Amino acid sequence: MSTTPVKVAVTGAAGQIGYSLLFRLASGSLLGPDTPIQLQLLEITPALKALEGVVMELDDCAFPTLAGVEIGDDAEKIFDGVNLALLVGARPRGPGMERGDLLEANGAIFTAQGKALNKVAASDVRIGVTGNPANTNALIAMTNAPDIPKERFSALTRLDHNRAISQLAAKTGASVTDIKKMTIWGNHSATQYPDIFHAEVGGKNAAETVNDQAWIENDFIPTVAKRGAAIIEARGSSSAASAASATIDAAHDWLFGTPEGDWASMAVVSDGSYGIPEGLIYSFPVTTTGGDWSIVQGLEIDDFSRARMDATAAELIEERDAVKELGLI
Ligand code: NAD
Ligand code: LMR
Repeated sequence: MSTTPVKVAVTGAAGQIGYSLLFRLASGSLLGPDTPIQLQLLEITPALKALEGVVMELDDCAFPTLAGVEIGDDAEKIFDGVNLALLVGARPRGPGMERGDLLEANGAIFTAQGKALNKVAASDVRIGVTGNPANTNALIAMTNAPDIPKERFSALTRLDHNRAISQLAAKTGASVTDIKKMTIWGNHSATQYPDIFHAEVGGKNAAETVNDQAWIENDFIPTVAKRGAAIIEARGSSSAASAASATIDAAHDWLFGTPEGDWASMAVVSDGSYGIPEGLIYSFPVTTTGGDWSIVQGLEIDDFSRARMDATAAELIEERDAVKELGLI
């Protein structure tokens, strides 16, 4: 085992997602069995006691890869020297709410955390935002951390990506491992556009394999885009274990690279690719290598896709303007 632990911060560590995420991180799901991990856990003061209980449970697992755990309510202390920050802590939506309804309640968390990361994070830090509304929260954190390269921020659309793979596998009878090049465009919201026109099932074009435009439009896209709400309706609270799993998948691919012949969906700062306004945190198909992502270029976009990609960009522009209005960026 290498000796220098990787320092990973998790915010909202006493929450639902935290309860799944911490144990996966500590047991080596992200960094593997040979790299020790130091967990830096941030919570609000009233949740620290519950977090102490979670740490007792982490201790009781005797994970060989867990080098240490620090907890606290001071972002500058907890983010000190972190190589990876997973920003999960934020209020989840309840039944009948859209994720955008959380902008005001959650946005302010990300100004403070962006500033703290800017001051004290390690020079190689990568920051993944899971807390909703994830894209715009990432925009807020990025804008408040001017010394950290913008490319180091991303928001989680990997859960949508995984949901889309699972739906397509069920429809085609393929295994999830046969499905490649899935794309989620845009916002982690009901306007997102899960795109199978560039995806492959067993090496063949997915849309041609499905050959059912009505299913794509009326079933696949809304099922993926509204899956979060369906889970809230069924479970009474929002997705947690699947969100933790996607948070790890996204960080894993970011740090260790996307597999040959495949790509991942990540919400990252737009450079104007595919006509998406520069500076928005928008989900694109990306390949990653050496801890850096690049947007997959040259995909043909037909009118059906264009309209949906623009609609989700328009929502992100509205969210950006709303947080500007609130003085958060
Ligand atoms: P939760 O309410 O169970 O936990 C959130 C935790 O964050 C709480 O323990 C709370 O005390 C903490 N917190 C609040 N403000 C904080 C702050 N300033 N600093 C540190 N911690 C803070 O919620 P959850 O189910 O774990 O979900 C967390 C967030 O993730 C929600 O916003 C939810 O909507 C979002 N989410 C995103 C995705 C995605 O795919 N992007 C998926 C699922 C959930
Ligand atoms: C999800 O997609 O499950 C989360 O973003 C939670 C939500 O509010 O839908």
